[in-house]
Amino acid sequence: MSAGISATQRVAVITGGAGGIGRAIAARLQRDGLRVALWDLDERAAHEAAAELAELADGAPRAALGVHVDVTDEKSVTAAMQTTVAHFGACHVLINSAGTTGPIAPVADSELAAWQRCIDVNLRSVFLCSRAAVAPMLAAGFGRIVNLASIAGKEGNPSMSAYSAAKAGVIAFTKSMGKELALTPVRVNCIAPAVIDTPLLQQMTPAALAASLAKIPMQRAGTAGEVAALAAWLASDECSFSSGATFDLSGGRATY
Ligand SMILES: NC(=O)c1ccc[n+]([C@@H]2O[C@H](COP(=O)([O-])OP(=O)(O)OC[C@H]3O[C@@H](n4cnc5c(N)ncnc54)[C@H](O)[C@@H]3O)[C@@H](O)[C@H]2O)c1
Repeated sequence: MSAGISATQRVAVITGGAGGIGRAIAARLQRDGLRVALWDLDERAAHEAAAELAELADGAPRAALGVHVDVTDEKSVTAAMQTTVAHFGACHVLINSAGTTGPIAPVADSELAAWQRCIDVNLRSVFLCSRAAVAPMLAAGFGRIVNLASIAGKEGNPSMSAYSAAKAGVIAFTKSMGKELALTPVRVNCIAPAVIDTPLLQQMTPAALAASLAKIPMQRAGTAGEVAALAAWLASDECSFSSGATFDLSGGRATY
């Protein structure tokens, strides 16, 4: 096991851990020596991803755990945290990566239920999981929360009003919680990627995807590994003087 920038024996929860970015972050954190709990709505995928990571862990016992959860559901999140802490004994890092693009339609044509579901998966989830993580982090004397926002939350993508509003909410939530916990050992930051090459892109129309790619000066999508590299630093001791901040990952697109 390589010694990375994160301390060994810490425990990281990654929501959406079976997805493109979540899985890459889990693999990176595990490579850095953390034990990882992959939380996902897709139970089978969570267990398969955890089993793959456990094999990579070179026989280290209980290094990766798959946990079935609906991050929009309060009881489910509470149960997932109990399962994780019972298994690993702690929670030091939370990566809020579960998300969905939601309805791609003009506001006038958007259904309330789909709009609300998108807000719940992307924003309510961050509140529920972060709230569940604070007590174990304070008890452990170390905490890092990393939220996956999006450049959509800064700029507003057309016909993606729910997603853009939810991600703007994640950015503001991060600022608020970061300030709230500034005098504790817990740091709270978020990442605002532009297009990253993952299965999430299949939820976008070809036209919306092409329009997003055209705005990137580097003329390519980012990789999940590039997101994982930044998340690993944000989850580490080295991220000590940043909290409540939004870190861009946009191939040169974001300028503020
Ligand atoms: N891929 C991109 O271009 C991009 C860009 C900016 C931001 N992001 C954000 O990064 C995060 C990860 O995106 P990704 O590309 O890995 O997406 P993905 O679709 O590959 O993975 C998302 C994961 O979240 C899980 N999930 C969905 N709803 C859930 C729920 N209610 N409870 C638990 N798990 C649930 C899914 O099962 C899936 O495994 C998301 O928050 C997304 O909005 C992605």
